[in-house]
Amino acid sequence: MDTKLKSLLEKLNREHSLELEEYQLLIENINPDLMKLAAEYAVKYQKEYYGNRVFIRGLVEFTNYCKNDCFYCGIRRDNRECERYRLRMDDIISCADEGYKLGFRTVVLQGGEDLAFKDQDICNIIKGIKAAHPDMVVTLSIGERDHDSYQAYFDAGADRYLLRHETANPELYARLHPGEMSFLHRMNCLQDLKNIGYQVGAGFMVQSPGQTAGDLAMDLKFIEEFKPDMCGIGPFISHKDTPFAKEKSGTLEMTLFLLSLLRIIYPQMLIPATTALGTIDPKGREKGILAGANVVMPNLSPTNVRKMYSLYDNKICTGEEAAECINCLKGRVSSVGYEIVEDAGNRVGFFD
Ligand code: SAM
Ligand code: FES
Repeated sequence: MDTKLKSLLEKLNREHSLELEEYQLLIENINPDLMKLAAEYAVKYQKEYYGNRVFIRGLVEFTNYCKNDCFYCGIRRDNRECERYRLRMDDIISCADEGYKLGFRTVVLQGGEDLAFKDQDICNIIKGIKAAHPDMVVTLSIGERDHDSYQAYFDAGADRYLLRHETANPELYARLHPGEMSFLHRMNCLQDLKNIGYQVGAGFMVQSPGQTAGDLAMDLKFIEEFKPDMCGIGPFISHKDTPFAKEKSGTLEMTLFLLSLLRIIYPQMLIPATTALGTIDPKGREKGILAGANVVMPNLSPTNVRKMYSLYDNKICTGEEAAECINCLKGRVSSVGYEIVEDAGNRVGFFD
């Protein structure tokens, strides 16, 4: 292996930080040997902090209405082909109940930015879940809201918030989103969430249209500096009814390599092996764990709405019942020597 690249990885392993150009060099020169060495370092940290334990999050995709028009996303406002649905509060709480019975101790309420759900509605859902299951961690993933709304959800009992920054380069952000969306606003939201006291998840799409190695280097630098508790990354995958329908999807190799680098940058971070990774490769999630990921997020949404939450083409797990999904994942995780655990799955060190 190129000694320069090897020494960069060694430096990252020692200092958990690189210069922007150094990250870029690693990304530009991705190769199987480099991936292997990065995964070795990454797994060493994954084992040190989390052993062979893999955390599960039950994902409830409760609405696919969205006021935004992100160019990459299948549930964007202007996609007239998308059949819309919105779960009722009782249904959402039932999904969490079902998850609890199946051993989930974290539920993730995700949706488009659907203003039909007022702050009070979101608070009532959180309180309903917490009343039934005080030890269930509630994670929200409902996009950009203002500080007071985030504070209200937190006061109602929400513990975590996932808001991917999508890209740390404002110029690329502007090419992936319509003019009315603001990079600065999204970044401010992440800072607000952190200040309020949430465990915060950032993240980005890998190889989104027009993204360069330099852009990905900026994402790594951002994660190094912002230190979110979680970082979700997955390949960009095209969706047939979006402006990016004809764009190439991201690769398994680049996603796995970045997963390993993220684990080395911030060894205690919670890193999911995402559904998008499982979509581009039948063993994507298993490979993600072997590259350093330690979380999987099976779907708890009712099966009759699953196909409608279509962010990208050929999304997996849209037909299975929640129980089937978790059993399938248990098998997949154990096939690579890890074990799914019944645990809230906090980031090591968060409560210290
Ligand atoms: N509305 C919330 C938000 O904006 O954070 C949560 C839902 S949004 C659909 C969840 C994530 O899906 C986005 O952050 C984005 O990274 C990912 N996503 C959307 N379209 C995608 C695509 N075509 N390929 C891969 N990931 C995609
Ligand atoms: Fe859902 Fe396999 S994880 S069917």
